[in-house]
Amino acid sequence: MCSLLVTLYGVFTNHSCTGVTTRCLLLELLDVSVSELLQGHSMWLVQHCARDILEALAFLHREGYVHADLKPRNILWSADDECFKLIDFGLSFKEGNQDVKYIQTDGYRAPEAELQNNLAQAGVEMEGDSGCSSAVDMWSLGIILLEMFSGIKLKDTVRSKEWKDNCAAIVDHIFASNSLVSPAIPVYHLRDLIKSMLLNNPKQRCTAETALLSPFFSIPFAPHIEDMVLLPSPVLRLLNLIEDSHLHNDEEYEDILEDMKEECQKYGSVVSLLIPKENPGKGQVFVEYANSSDSKEAQRLLTGRTFDGKFVVATFYPLSAYKRGYLYQTVQ
Ligand SMILES: *[C@@H]1O[C@H](CO)[C@@H](O)[C@H](O)[C@H]1NC(C)=O
Ligand SMILES: *[C@@H]1O[C@H](CO)[C@@H](O)[C@H](O)[C@H]1NC(C)=O
Repeated sequence: MCSLLVTLYGVFTNHSCTGVTTRCLLLELLDVSVSELLQGHSMWLVQHCARDILEALAFLHREGYVHADLKPRNILWSADDECFKLIDFGLSFKEGNQDVKYIQTDGYRAPEAELQNNLAQAGVEMEGDSGCSSAVDMWSLGIILLEMFSGIKLKDTVRSKEWKDNCAAIVDHIFASNSLVSPAIPVYHLRDLIKSMLLNNPKQRCTAETALLSPFFSIPFAPHIEDMVLLPSPVLRLLNLIEDSHLHNDEEYEDILEDMKEECQKYGSVVSLLIPKENPGKGQVFVEYANSSDSKEAQRLLTGRTFDGKFVVATFYPLSAYKRGYLYQTVQ
């Protein structure tokens, strides 16, 4: 089973005292959704999200399923698995076997799904094989990535005549006018990827498999400090605690390690702790907790506390990078 889809733990029936029975799904608990992250996405975050969702879609599509309701609210961050996951399969269908005609959400609906909705609304009978394909998901993802990159909701834009006439020109314009991204970053790879998802003809649109081969995914981005505040992980990074001068005296260093372990252990089960003596990460405290519910609690309680008159800044840190011993240097 693909871990980029929300995990279903079980199904049960709830009988209320009034005799109403409800089928309930017991699902894995996840963290923030992409809709809550909508401003100031870093390129690291856009790339992370794009890759995770494309891998989830590649899996779904290979199995013959269409998600059919991709939107920021249906993409959630999993702190323990450190990836974005797809939720809400309420409109999903097997390709070639589409029973629901009203698919996708306004703003994220592919042109062919729009047409199908309109025909169904007008009561026009459709041919047996006129269903939508997995390409509708690629369209939605194109819009989501464009919103993440620009930080703008595109609901009104995608309704406009200008968009329907030439959406590629609007995508070009959004990329050309976004001055927040450093000129050194080849954002045109992302632009071209998005444009290949937003082709009107579903047959020409890229597939999840081919999208994953885009050169955009070979660019090494580092997370911004905002990413590490917003996206929980089992690892905490404490800043502003230790002065460089304390790092070079072995005895003092050992004392600091002991003190930090003791302090951090108060909030949860500490698996490992690291205080680099040199850059990258010099003087920062990295604390790995048993799971993200412990690290989240610790982050909440440690933030704003003072040690030796200094305010603690506690952010999360990607567990995968920490495990590889990779300490990002450019975290501004
Ligand atoms: C089950 O039903 C009870 C009584 O109607 C209700 O209070 C409760 O929230 C329901 N639980 C779930 C998980 O739906
Ligand atoms: C997290 O780890 C702690 C310590 O091992 C454990 O007590 C707690 O139940 C775990 N929480 C979850 C949600 O797994």
